[in-house]
Amino acid sequence: MPSKRQRKGTSKKASHTGAHPGSALPEVKREGASRSDDTTPGSGAAPEEEVEDFRVEPAVPVPRALHPIEPDHPGAYAMSTEDMIGVDSHLSYVTRWARMRAEEERGEVQFRAVRNDGSREALVLLLGLKNVFIRQLPNMPRPYVARLVFDRKHESTTMIKRLPGGEEVVMGGCCYRPFPEQGFSEIAFLAISHNEQVRGYGTRLMAHTKERAKQLGLTHLLTCADNNAVAYFKKQGFSKIITLPPERWQGYIKDYEGIVLMECVLNYKVDYLNIPPLLKAQKMCLLEKLKEVSRSHIVYPGIDVKQMRGVRIEDIPGLQHIDLTKVPPPTAAHGTRSGGASGAKASSAAAAIAAERDPVQLAALHKELQQVLNQIKSHASAWPFLQPVDPQETGAYNYYEVVKNPMDLRTIQERLDGGGYYVNKDIFLADLNRMVKNAVDYNGPGHYITELAQSLQRFYSSKV
Ligand code: ACO
Repeated sequence: MPSKRQRKGTSKKASHTGAHPGSALPEVKREGASRSDDTTPGSGAAPEEEVEDFRVEPAVPVPRALHPIEPDHPGAYAMSTEDMIGVDSHLSYVTRWARMRAEEERGEVQFRAVRNDGSREALVLLLGLKNVFIRQLPNMPRPYVARLVFDRKHESTTMIKRLPGGEEVVMGGCCYRPFPEQGFSEIAFLAISHNEQVRGYGTRLMAHTKERAKQLGLTHLLTCADNNAVAYFKKQGFSKIITLPPERWQGYIKDYEGIVLMECVLNYKVDYLNIPPLLKAQKMCLLEKLKEVSRSHIVYPGIDVKQMRGVRIEDIPGLQHIDLTKVPPPTAAHGTRSGGASGAKASSAAAAIAAERDPVQLAALHKELQQVLNQIKSHASAWPFLQPVDPQETGAYNYYEVVKNPMDLRTIQERLDGGGYYVNKDIFLADLNRMVKNAVDYNGPGHYITELAQSLQRFYSSKV
């Protein structure tokens, strides 16, 4: 039976108000509800938090579509671009950015460019940073690390965290050697304290380092990355392809074994500390342009579910404009036809759709689907899916709160009996797949219901 799935999230809330100091660009607008923040795969250690829904303000005013397609159906309306995008707080890179900004605004975290100028403050910070590097980069000889960190030609972006007692501790940093005449900076060491890793600080550290490089008038960052840090650097915009002419860097970079030379080209139009507002503006611009060629922004009135039976697809509001000759044929992944050239594909799709409307062909299709459905229902793994989930009987009391589009074999049978619903195999297959997806999503990997669902899917995939 489906079991109650562990819901993620804690009661901790992050606030996201106000602009970043020194920047007029980014703003976030709060929404009413709060929800759980799904972390990005790969950032496993990041705690999941419940965050208040919010929208990011675009970095620049977005020009509106000049000639958007207008609603042309009674009751239809055009959605605003903002509403098409909805809240941004479901994007993990946005929530991380907002959290970092909020921490910096509250003074809990600071990033400071520090050079050994002999001052006590600089020496204390650089000593703290050297200790982080020694712990996080154990293969690096200690004297070498100390020499570079305290070298007066090197500079470091230090990440300083204020502890609850008020004490300030260096939690990470990036040590680099700027070569102003050559136009680049070489990153020598970069690390975040073990207990603060994979929470987004490494990204923020790099963003501050890039902004500092822009201040210094540099165009490139180069680094000899440890093999195990190559993936991190790639995510920060570094590449193994070096575009900087060799005469500008060869002889300046220290080369050693087990490293990969990587380069990041700086773009002065990008505010690296505020990427989400920039992406938001780009996304909105694209949607505005799309409004001139697509109807994706038009919301049509729904159909009366009581009249569902016998409603033809083309009678559904909003679908009248679809040119059936341009509907792509079912994909090979669905186990059905795959066409040849695109023109042939379109006409074969139209022919297929017309054929599926033919009563004789439709009857043949339903007979075939019924045979498959009988086999599915008699399969040993089918028993949990024979009828709709009963929350009381199964103990899955929140099932219908979690699963918004339930599906089961009895409903599929009823749809098949109705005669007009499954006009092709893809719709039938989509219902089966939804049933399996619900089971997997609700129960999670490794659960026996998930395994039964997947076994059933393997079975019917070879039949439909
Ligand atoms: N391998 C693969 N991916 C990584 C790694 C890694 N070693 N470290 C971080 N990432 C990914 C994260 O999963 C995250 O991905 P996402 O954006 O898709 O979620 C992304 O990189 C950014 O992660 P952050 O949380 O911003 O980075 P973090 O705070 O963990 O700092 C750092 C990254 C500095 C590499 C840290 O893990 C660290 O100190 N590691 C040990 C020291 C080290 O290896 N330093 C680099 C040596 S090379 C040199 O110094 C030139």
